[in-house]
Amino acid sequence: MATIRLGDIAPDFTAETTEGTVHFHEWLGNSWGVLFSHPADFTPVCTTELGVTSKLKDEFARRNTKVLAVSVDPLKSHQEWIKDINETQHTTVNFPIIADADRKVATLYDMIHPNANETFTVRSVFIIGPDKKVKLTLTYPASTGRNFFEILRVIDSLQLTANYSVATPANWEQGQDVVIAPAIKDEDIPSRFPKGHKRIKPYLRTTPQPNL
Ligand code: BEZ
Repeated sequence: MATIRLGDIAPDFTAETTEGTVHFHEWLGNSWGVLFSHPADFTPVCTTELGVTSKLKDEFARRNTKVLAVSVDPLKSHQEWIKDINETQHTTVNFPIIADADRKVATLYDMIHPNANETFTVRSVFIIGPDKKVKLTLTYPASTGRNFFEILRVIDSLQLTANYSVATPANWEQGQDVVIAPAIKDEDIPSRFPKGHKRIKPYLRTTPQPNL
């Protein structure tokens, strides 16, 4: 198992999930993907995370993004736990959860950090592009539930910056001005960004979000 870095091809695998066998790359197809681990079934924070993710189904779909969860519990446990998630979070789990009892996926993606916990996965997130390359990695401890609005925000930024020579500034949200990539020469800005721009410093030039 090697560290997975940004730009690496996301390791492929075949796994049993609550929605049948998944061949990861084939399952992703031309979509973006979010692969995320949680420490264990029948735990409180994980229950809320999977509930929130289910409720964001339409938001992920609008971004052409498939979601795949993983934990090291067996399929039967996942199936029982899903009933609790549905009941307590007032939702219906609508994405597959990998039953990774043999830790194949957890090991492949370095999701077990033994100095944090020898058995359970940490809260890892991998965002994967349609080219199967890793675009973002995040690692949260078991005690901190993730902010899934932040994951959507990052996908928005990744999808925008994949198509335009821009970057998104701190705390950027959809609709706000973006930063023009330093590689773009001043004289090329008007033709590339016809909505206008501000030149705050030679290295800090902003423009309205180009894809709206
Ligand atoms: C939880 O999901 O609530 C949790 C899981 C493992 C350790 C601590 C909290």
